[in-house]
Amino acid sequence: MTVIQGARVDTEEEILGLYRAHLSKGRATLAELFGSHMEVESSGAWLTTSDGERFLNAGGYGVFIMGARHPLVMEEVERQLHTHPTATRILLEPTVARAAEALVSVMPEGLDRVHFALSGAEAVETGLKLARAGGRRRIVSMLGGYHGKTLGALSATAKEVYQAPFRPLVPDVRHLPFGDAEALEAELRAHPGEVCVILEPVQGGGGVIIPPPGYLGRVAELVRAYDGFLVLDEVQTGFGRLGEWWGADAEGVVPDVLLTGKALGGGVLPVSAAVATREAFRPFDKDPYVHTATFSGQPLLMAAVQGAVRAVKEERLVSRARDLGAVLLSCPGLRPGPAARRPPGPPAGPFRTARPGRRPRGGRRRRTRPGHLGRRPRRRGARLCRRRARHRGGAAPGAAGEPRLGVPAAAADAAAQHARRADRHRVRGHRPQPGGGHRLRVRRERHRHRPRPPRPRPLRHRRHGRQRGDDHPAGDGRIRQDGRPVAARRRPGHRLPALRRRP
Ligand SMILES: Cc1ncc(COP(=O)(O)O)c(C=O)c1O
Repeated sequence: MTVIQGARVDTEEEILGLYRAHLSKGRATLAELFGSHMEVESSGAWLTTSDGERFLNAGGYGVFIMGARHPLVMEEVERQLHTHPTATRILLEPTVARAAEALVSVMPEGLDRVHFALSGAEAVETGLKLARAGGRRRIVSMLGGYHGKTLGALSATAKEVYQAPFRPLVPDVRHLPFGDAEALEAELRAHPGEVCVILEPVQGGGGVIIPPPGYLGRVAELVRAYDGFLVLDEVQTGFGRLGEWWGADAEGVVPDVLLTGKALGGGVLPVSAAVATREAFRPFDKDPYVHTATFSGQPLLMAAVQGAVRAVKEERLVSRARDLGAVLLSCPGLRPGPAARRPPGPPAGPFRTARPGRRPRGGRRRRTRPGHLGRRPRRRGARLCRRRARHRGGAAPGAAGEPRLGVPAAAADAAAQHARRADRHRVRGHRPQPGGGHRLRVRRERHRHRPRPPRPRPLRHRRHGRQRGDDHPAGDGRIRQDGRPVAARRRPGHRLPALRRRP
């Protein structure tokens, strides 16, 4: 399929070639396996590809809580784009001040100092640096946690496959089982006043792992008791996704630093933030240049933040996310597994040698090594990748093995309907994951913009022209070798008219 961009025409082959030449050969190969779909348009909860297919957009790694191109966000961003998109960084600039005010207005009480950045990983770095500047040089993060891939954030991301090529990483980092408050207490007791604990309220990249009730509150208590520093990474869970503005709200926790990102840019621009208590932020208050970046707090991004906060408030997306969450969690195939079931160490790869949900003939289901496609990798990989791409928004298979369903809360009805439909097809669509998480395979949306081309008629018809089967009341248009029409498929309760005898 082709896409016309101004005077230029993009074909899939050309774009794949450009990926191969300038971006990543691996990425190009994966795109091919996914079926070389090119996404060209998005609106609300829906994504359109170059060949006119529409997908429920559960991708974007959790960016689209308000869907794509939300009008309130677009309005703010467009206004700023046409007046003052980029600041000098020398003079006062009102948009960043207003964006900070808007963000703090929805934060847990006590979190009122904001450092804006672009990516989630930068927000993580900011949190870790604030902890270090405050004397907490040991990091404790959780197994299965995901905090990004810059060096500091990667050190906290307990994922061997990402860490291995880049060692040595930041020293004094320990990874503890998620949900195990006792293990955390032992670590904090061994190093009082030295530990920064970073964790997610619900592990997103780890496979949507919900900890036992009360766990987050207990973590906060322990961190206070042993004079630690708590960084709550809500880059994915925040901004209403959990049915509260923040996971912290659900358990009445106020961390030293709360991290947000993804949806903060309204699904339009990349923005993240580390929001700290006055005490935790002191090092940055003292020296405003100790941790800066050129694009931090730029007016265009800040307009998106203001639009995003407005959109979530005005569209009541927090409660809509709560309702949608209840619907999704009520689908039998989507109930999350307890964190305790999670095996230690990296999870098995996402690929199975057999079609998920079926055992290969004469044996138990086998798993391939992480990232390995098994025998006949291309065909099998292609099939799995295509299915996987539909519900994971095209995440690289084997890259993380992390299933995530980033359904926009703005599209509660469409999304819930779609998810229910996917759940009905659960026999094919869902398998409990090795990490106790779950995976949803959203089937391809039936609607197409362009009508399907008519099916070619069977060859025999074309060769011989109109034959008896075409107009026979019991025929479906095809003719048997003996010249009789092929019987139309019987519907339940539908009686076929008797066949006329051949003369
Ligand atoms: C909880 C969490 N923290 C941090 C990050 C890193 O964000 P980014 O990819 O924007 O650097 C992610 C990304 O998925 C995340 O889920």
